[in-house]
Amino acid sequence: MKAPIISVTDVRKSYGRGANRFDALRGVTLEIFEGESVAIVGKSGSGKSTLMHVLALLDQPTSGSIELEGVDTTTLRGRALNRTRNKTFGFVFQQFFLTAGSSVLDNVVLPMKIAGVGRAERKRRGMAALSQLELADKARNKAVDLSGGQKQRSVIARALVNDPRIIFADEPTGNLDTSTGGVVEDILFELNREKGITLIIVTHDEDLAARCDRRIQIRDGLIIDDEAVAA
Ligand SMILES: Nc1ncnc2c1ncn2[C@@H]1O[C@H](COP(=O)(O)OP(=O)(O)O)[C@@H](O)[C@H]1O
Ligand SMILES: [Mg+2]
Repeated sequence: MKAPIISVTDVRKSYGRGANRFDALRGVTLEIFEGESVAIVGKSGSGKSTLMHVLALLDQPTSGSIELEGVDTTTLRGRALNRTRNKTFGFVFQQFFLTAGSSVLDNVVLPMKIAGVGRAERKRRGMAALSQLELADKARNKAVDLSGGQKQRSVIARALVNDPRIIFADEPTGNLDTSTGGVVEDILFELNREKGITLIIVTHDEDLAARCDRRIQIRDGLIIDDEAVAA
């Protein structure tokens, strides 16, 4: 079997200290393989977002290890950490807003700006990503003027510009109506199928979880179920 792209061993994450300490993850071990689509489900407050943040190297665990392609990520700091995150991951998170007053294109090229990609190349790749999401005609519009579905498609375009290996999505369809949410889901699964991008999706939506290869259920900071989804 192939080596895992992410390997998590006994990860714990506590917030606060002393009497205020809260153990949000209490010993999570799992492996994720390249090309998988993985749903992380569980009740509100169960630790899903905390797990996603540590998997995506946005937050450090209190203890335990996270390996990315066999490399222990605790040794990554500062620039090396930012660079790894920026080139390997794409994010479709509700809290990573589009900048409302900026153009759609300026929003989409931001990860490339961070990566130090030159202006002409940024524009070329930004427009290619927008075309892929059928938003090329909105490139010059302000992000604030887009519909909910168009905003989420712009967020996906932004997640794609650095050619990520893994897309992390936290409730990607949470704020969308059913049919718009369905379109956004279709796009994510098409990227998974056609480009082999690994999907890690936090969701309350069991229908979305059922479309993934694998469903991991979290309760009170522990994995209580991890199984392949029947096709
Ligand atoms: N920064 C924080 N400080 C203190 N407690 C937190 C913080 N972030 C999350 N928590 C707590 O950790 C638990 C898990 O949160 P979270 O991972 O956001 O759950 P979920 O995404 O499953 O709703 C919750 O009880 C939450 O209140
Ligand atoms: Mg959450």
